Amino acid sequence: MASRALRHLDGELAELARAGLLRAAGNGERPDDAVVLCSNDYLGFAGGPWGVGSTAPGGAGASRLVCGDYAVHARAERALAEWVGAEAALLFSSGYAANVGALAALARPGDLVVSDALNHASIVDGCRLSGARIQVVAHRDNRAVAAALGSAQGSARRWVVTESYFSMDGDSPDLVELRRICDEHDAALFVDEAHAVGVFGPEGAGRCAELGVRPDVLVGALGKAVGLQGAFVAGDAPLRRWLWNRARSFVFSTGVSPALADRVEARVAEVRCADERRARLAEVTRALREALAQGPGDGGPGGQGPILPWVVGEAEAAVALATALRVRGVWAQAIRPPTVPRGTARLRLTASAALVDRQLGIAVRSLREVVAR
Ligand SMILES: Cc1ncc(COP(=O)(O)O)c(C=O)c1O
Repeated sequence: MASRALRHLDGELAELARAGLLRAAGNGERPDDAVVLCSNDYLGFAGGPWGVGSTAPGGAGASRLVCGDYAVHARAERALAEWVGAEAALLFSSGYAANVGALAALARPGDLVVSDALNHASIVDGCRLSGARIQVVAHRDNRAVAAALGSAQGSARRWVVTESYFSMDGDSPDLVELRRICDEHDAALFVDEAHAVGVFGPEGAGRCAELGVRPDVLVGALGKAVGLQGAFVAGDAPLRRWLWNRARSFVFSTGVSPALADRVEARVAEVRCADERRARLAEVTRALREALAQGPGDGGPGGQGPILPWVVGEAEAAVALATALRVRGVWAQAIRPPTVPRGTARLRLTASAALVDRQLGIAVRSLREVVAR
């Protein structure tokens, strides 16, 4: 059963089936007695194992819809769906591909997409590609979201798109309230949890899981806290079937490496049990935040959690801070426009459980020195 806001997908999938255009979403079953004449594995490298410890082929050889679908894909997707409490999930080659593909497949001309002003570039691009009317609202301004939805009753469908933990600001919207607003206006809630899965929520299942919010579409990244590469879109089963048929970055792209997919189930299990790492991450975060808070004025980083934005305004100032840290043996990036809005250049520090005490000591000392200047 599709979520209320996505219930139209059932009918549209049935329409595709009637027209003979529905591609059955795969479950990795492969004929082992067939001569394959539909792969792009021209030199025969894809079938070989890739790296140590996995016998899965390195390359899928083709789109999943052609002959690039393996049982390991389906296993990975089941593990991911179960982790975030969804019915189904679909792997994408990156978070960028997931956002662009899913948004452009779901929203259409005639729809309204309400998008947070600080949403990631992949969300912005997906919204633009969709052809829907886009209303950008101020960052984390749920009242503006409600107003935009309220004045869009003529739109065919309404979508609200947000990150659950903003990549450059380390802050979160009020997702409980957003869900309520979406329900009130019969809008679908699309949540990018790229920086939240692994870090927040029970067993690292993300912000939505932490707050008991059920998004209609959830995007999770595998290249961040999960430590691999790729991404997934999770939701109800018709959503997966729809994206399998209509997400262009999925349909017209080589399937995720089976060797990579083969790592996902075990890694998800590791991440789910990684409370010790999450505790260490909290400890490192606390130490870095304290070091930054020693600065003059209101100093200190914004947001909460392991992303620490130290907003300084001008690009040159951010670069100067990064340079001052670099000569002390600390590598942090200055983030400048167009990644962030003009006048909000910053040093973006990210904490990691991988830092040992000696490294944390160097980081804290260096930050204190630089903050004190
Ligand atoms: C919020 C958000 N969504 C999506 C992406 C894209 O993910 P990927 O790096 O897997 O393409 C990023 C990358 O930084 C991100 O910050």
